[in-house]
Amino acid sequence: MDRRRFLQGATIASGVALTVKGFAKGEPPTASGGTVPRVCSTWDFGVAANQAAWKVLAGGGRALDAVEQGARVPEADLRNHSVGRAGYPDRDGKVTLDASIMDEHGNCGAVAAMEHIAHPISVARRVMERTPHVLLVGDGATQFAIEQGFPREELLTPDSDKAWHEWLKTARYKPSANSEVRTYNAGPGGTPGDASNHDTIGMLAIDARGNLSGACTTSGMAWKIHGRVGDSPIIGAGLYVDNEIGGATSTGVGEEVIRNVGSFLVVELMRQGRSPEDACREAVERILRRKPDAKDLQVGFLAMDKKGNVGAWAIQSGFSYAVCDAKKQDTLIPGKSTY
Ligand code: GLY
Repeated sequence: MDRRRFLQGATIASGVALTVKGFAKGEPPTASGGTVPRVCSTWDFGVAANQAAWKVLAGGGRALDAVEQGARVPEADLRNHSVGRAGYPDRDGKVTLDASIMDEHGNCGAVAAMEHIAHPISVARRVMERTPHVLLVGDGATQFAIEQGFPREELLTPDSDKAWHEWLKTARYKPSANSEVRTYNAGPGGTPGDASNHDTIGMLAIDARGNLSGACTTSGMAWKIHGRVGDSPIIGAGLYVDNEIGGATSTGVGEEVIRNVGSFLVVELMRQGRSPEDACREAVERILRRKPDAKDLQVGFLAMDKKGNVGAWAIQSGFSYAVCDAKKQDTLIPGKSTY
């Protein structure tokens, strides 16, 4: 098998190399070590998420606040059928959401298969900060969110309801790769029969103090079996942050990421000296070595190291990610763009 056909990767220049001299008025401070605040996130909808996160970082704010604020943008976007409020439902017509968040101290929180709450990333943060637990699921997660003051809402939008009824005509379910560049404004990118619209937003940020945090949020696979949970709310699978080393997050078919504890693996590979891109590539190759058939699926990893360097790798072309710092805002296609 010619893996190069499937594996695409890219990296961006060192955060140190971009260390700021002469930031214009209003631009963010840097720590004495010269850390450049930066945020990155999966897919093209990461651009808008990054802009919200950047407002926090540019004001000298904490990476944790940046990734929460950023992740809330696609969660609220009615055009986005793979994250948050307008996420496509499961096969029973229920919208169930997954999210996780992790800070610079190794604290983490997550919710899984949660219904009726539009911002799972903020509930995940409350789990982290206001309970002794890491993960709340299903009705318990919804109950906790309501106790915390989150509004209970009907999340199935007319568009999602229509797509679900279209899918019900065949009820064919086969997870498949999103191997085309996402056509975000035109819709979810896949036809309502194949779940190829399946994306996630994973975000990683480093703030002016040099602290890292990450967030990951999704509605999971469209038309999934009720109760199915993917990688996004599983710490170590969909998200992992070690403030000494870096952070990683994933998108794509979560089952393959969980089997390989993907984001933890990427961070551990960076600990061994691999670059973010190289670590993501090895994690993808590990998935393919263990299960060659996964070449027909999509999994993408995105990583940021302690210096703010960013890299990504995916099984198939079509994965994109967005990077934002004081100098530039870009959407990158792994293997085709450098920063
Ligand atoms: N990567 C998100 C999921 O599999 O649900």
